[in-house]
Amino acid sequence: MSSNNFIQVAEKGDALLLPVTVAELEALQGGAVLVQPQIDDQIKYMLTNNTLRKKSGNVATIATLGLLPQHYVVVIVVEDSISALREAFASAGAKIKGLKLASLNIDVSSAAIANLLQMINVRQAVKAMIEGLKLALYERPTNKKEKQDSTKLSEISFVLNDDQQSEVHRFEQATIEAEYIVESVKLARDLTNMPGNDLTPERLAFYAEELAHKLELDIEVLDEWSCAEEGMGGLLGVGQGSVNPPRMVVIHYEGDPSSNEKWGLIGKGITFDTGGISLKPAANMDDMISDMGGAAAVLGAIHLIASMKVKANVVAVIPTAENMPSDRALKPGDIIKTMSGHTIEVVNTDAEGRLVLADGITTAIKRGATKLIDVATLTGAVLVALGTEATAAVTNNDELLQKLLTASEKSGERIWQLPAYAEYKKLIASDVADMKNSGGRHAGSITAGLFLGHFVEDKPWVHLDIAGTAYVNSARRWEPKGATGVMTRSLYELIAEND
Ligand code: BES
Ligand code: MN
Ligand code: ZN
Repeated sequence: MSSNNFIQVAEKGDALLLPVTVAELEALQGGAVLVQPQIDDQIKYMLTNNTLRKKSGNVATIATLGLLPQHYVVVIVVEDSISALREAFASAGAKIKGLKLASLNIDVSSAAIANLLQMINVRQAVKAMIEGLKLALYERPTNKKEKQDSTKLSEISFVLNDDQQSEVHRFEQATIEAEYIVESVKLARDLTNMPGNDLTPERLAFYAEELAHKLELDIEVLDEWSCAEEGMGGLLGVGQGSVNPPRMVVIHYEGDPSSNEKWGLIGKGITFDTGGISLKPAANMDDMISDMGGAAAVLGAIHLIASMKVKANVVAVIPTAENMPSDRALKPGDIIKTMSGHTIEVVNTDAEGRLVLADGITTAIKRGATKLIDVATLTGAVLVALGTEATAAVTNNDELLQKLLTASEKSGERIWQLPAYAEYKKLIASDVADMKNSGGRHAGSITAGLFLGHFVEDKPWVHLDIAGTAYVNSARRWEPKGATGVMTRSLYELIAEND
């Protein structure tokens, strides 16, 4: 800092975040100035006693005791990749969570960091830093009697050097984009974290309406009678066991009127999944508040796409229901007819996601979608296959999947393709209907995907199973414990198709 011009700091923040390279730390140890003599001595001391290591992702917090305008300096060791930068800032976020800081200055003015940002691409680098930091700072809202004082980190500003001043607009634009990204992921997380008694299908539809009104988008909310008129036997079948009726939500975003292409995003919106008559075991059933994580990702994505005025057309579809056992619930052996006209033998009422999604996919196609992506907490089997480290993909179109994989490299949200050989589909053949809704234990995530593929009418389509990634048991990287909002950012990066 002392060797650079201290320019664009609108206000002095509570903390100065200082990304540094390993080379800079070595130079510091060799006698170069990094911040200021006493602070530099502290950093050197921490390097000698290994409380700060010269490895990307390491973070040290130093109280400035009045030596700088900010209360703290947060040294963040980084290297030149988007993912390393995002992860390093995420660990900084986790470290400073307890400090209750309202404003931060990120000093990217050193020659080494300025160069690193150029190498990564300023826009992607700024996004990675802010995403990492703010997504890691997220906390699940609580309902405790004693309210905790929650400090909101509001202000982030960058400290730039003379050369970077010419790029100040790029920094500002990327900061605005990053703030929308964080806000949209937060929206997805907040919805996913809501308990089932607060988030019924009607409430989820209400939140979708609120969002659509804020963004001035057209929205349709089909109640159970309208769904019946449209023949949505899948959605109605799943919803019929609950006193809280199902809804089909459709949001329209027209950002590219000159194009005939329209993305169809379909999100599984089971507000609580008991399994129905094929009741789930009690252990961890409470996690099933997250069974609308796909719907949340789609809402987060549409919020982000519309906020950023992305040049694309999107129809977002959320089939939402509560899967309950009751005297009027769907039973194993029941045969239902979906909106597409195809019939399903329900062999397991816990395989409900694919039933509501079948009608969701048909709805998206009816509303003009030309390519489809569904996002769903669909199978426990995906946890067996991939654990919690990756979202599984099943597709009928490798080109579309490739684009999504490229987007997911930008977002850092891992996606792994499962094979979709036609032979797997034999597992869900039914003697009495067009398909049955479960193929048993073998290849459970694949058969679930292929079930959905049955409804896509040859449209390019990718299915994303987020059962392992939407809701996690412990915090990691930029994801807190609980809802992650996963796929919000990947869907956005895909549809925005930006550099
Ligand atoms: N919502 C569950 C899948 C799930 C499991 C999500 C664990 C998150 C964590 C889904 O509706 C379900 O119950 N799937 C069944 C399908 C089976 C009956 C064919 C499953 O995976 O057991
Ligand atoms: Mn289920
Ligand atoms: Zn489910």
